[in-house]
Amino acid sequence: MRRITIAIDGFSSCGKSTLAKQLAHHLRYTYIDSGAMYRAVALYAIENGLIVDGVLVLADLLRVLPGIRIGFEHDDTTQRSETWLDGRNVEHRIRELDVSNCVTLVSPVPEVRAKLVRTQQELGAGGGVVMDGRDIGTVVFPGAEVKFFMTARPEVRAERRYKELRGRGADVTFESVLANIGRRDLDDTTRKADPLVQAPGAIVIDNSNMTSAEQFDIALGHVVKAIGTVAEA
Ligand code: DC
Repeated sequence: MRRITIAIDGFSSCGKSTLAKQLAHHLRYTYIDSGAMYRAVALYAIENGLIVDGVLVLADLLRVLPGIRIGFEHDDTTQRSETWLDGRNVEHRIRELDVSNCVTLVSPVPEVRAKLVRTQQELGAGGGVVMDGRDIGTVVFPGAEVKFFMTARPEVRAERRYKELRGRGADVTFESVLANIGRRDLDDTTRKADPLVQAPGAIVIDNSNMTSAEQFDIALGHVVKAIGTVAEA
């Protein structure tokens, strides 16, 4: 059976990676977290002094960018694909707050996007892939057989994220989480290079009032239909 490409885009904290992992696991496809790659570039910038007083030293980043190696390795113990930067596993480090706060300094840079998009296209070239991000259905794989655009009300997303952060012991307020989500939505939708927009033909999933199991059933229904259509063609 032909293995298709599934592109999942959407706002931050609306369960894209949960759905992507569920689909990849069910279909035995490869899951690729494109956001992790932008996070890895941000980590590189932090560790190499390329962010000074909250400002990215663009010329220095552009000089070293071609040599930065970012990829994924399957971990047999966790059974998960983990992010590597220049020969080192950074899967956990890239989720920390300093990286989250700096990633919007590097993600709008066209040269960064061009490099990461190229790598993403290479990683997904053979099909059988579920990739999530902001520009997967519009830029990385405009020809993907299935495209989802995920959204949920900001208050719902903030509540989920707030619970997750509190569960990890973080000292945050609901209001600050909600404000952060609002800022990230604005950054994602208004940046010049590859802003977050709904791809033509994308299936919108608003999961404000859905469980992840309900969301998975709906998404899988669309995928199964698409695989059937591809097989008949
Ligand atoms: O999905 P995430 O929060 O881990 O993404 C991290 C950042 O990278 C976020 O600020 C949006 C950006 N991003 C992007 O610009 N393009 C993508 N394809 C994926 C993520």
